[in-house]
Amino acid sequence: MQIEQGMVAVVTGAGSGIGRALVERAAARGMKVVAADIEQPQLDATVEAVTAAGGEAIGVRTDVSEPADVERLADTAWSTFGGVNLLCNNAGVFSGGLMWERTLADWEWVMGVNLYGLVNAVKAFVPRLLEAGGPAHIVNTASMGGLVTNAFSGPYYTSKFAAVGLTECLAHDLQASGAPVGVSVLVPSLVATGIATSQRNRPERFVDRTAVPGADEEFVLAAMVDSIGGGMPPTEVAALVFDAVENERFWIPTKPSYHDQIRVRHDDMQELRHPSSAQLD
Ligand SMILES: NC(=O)c1ccc[n+]([C@@H]2O[C@H](COP(=O)([O-])OP(=O)(O)OC[C@H]3O[C@@H](n4cnc5c(N)ncnc54)[C@H](O)[C@@H]3O)[C@@H](O)[C@H]2O)c1
Repeated sequence: MQIEQGMVAVVTGAGSGIGRALVERAAARGMKVVAADIEQPQLDATVEAVTAAGGEAIGVRTDVSEPADVERLADTAWSTFGGVNLLCNNAGVFSGGLMWERTLADWEWVMGVNLYGLVNAVKAFVPRLLEAGGPAHIVNTASMGGLVTNAFSGPYYTSKFAAVGLTECLAHDLQASGAPVGVSVLVPSLVATGIATSQRNRPERFVDRTAVPGADEEFVLAAMVDSIGGGMPPTEVAALVFDAVENERFWIPTKPSYHDQIRVRHDDMQELRHPSSAQLD
């Protein structure tokens, strides 16, 4: 889809990191932006940055794991700007540590945001996009952790494998329906964002007050803070996303290492080997 002045973008997880960079890039391309996030002050800061730069944006506080919130987001986009052309389902959270030590609340939170956030968006937006008749494009943010695996990130990687599968199925369903809606999946390697402090936005219904943080969880988060800090700037990721949308590319990796990592996984599967532990860069 060619991005044109006046088109409308909806971005979730817009208050920070990749989401904020997507909002700023969309606004810089002359799009009207509906920014959505669970964290109101950060969401307000994103909208203020766009309007200060002369762009047009509104903020809609949204918990993507709540179907009613996502319906309201779609309602607001249509009632304010009359339609949507680019939908970036980008909100995501991380919970790390040994998978058997994670509480059910941890699993439900991560799956609620990273997988059901996408399900809720498909149900709220796709029928309206089909009715509008396009042009439209959907970008779901998964992760390299949706294609390859390693230790200490069970709920996150599980949710991101599901996000990749959902996005492939969405692309098939849209193609089978002849719909004028493109689809891409963003599979970033490390990006310098706030993802290691995801707990800051954990809804109360996903909190288990009896849980005691384990050493495994603290170790993983400390390692993440270290490695994420050296990650790619989110603005570079946003540039890759817009390039992929305009060139109708499904896969959006962020690093050349993507090719080796998926080749090793593929070889492991062909040779029936134990999965290799991926080193994300
Ligand atoms: N940073 C990385 O290295 C990396 C790598 C691969 C994939 N990703 C993915 O990129 C996406 C963006 O994350 P980021 O790295 O920019 O992190 P981030 O924490 O900076 O941004 C995530 C945003 O999502 C919002 N959010 C959290 N829960 C929400 C909910 N229930 N409803 C709505 N918004 C919610 C947060 O408030 C935050 O603004 C995520 O899906 C993440 O899994 C990040």
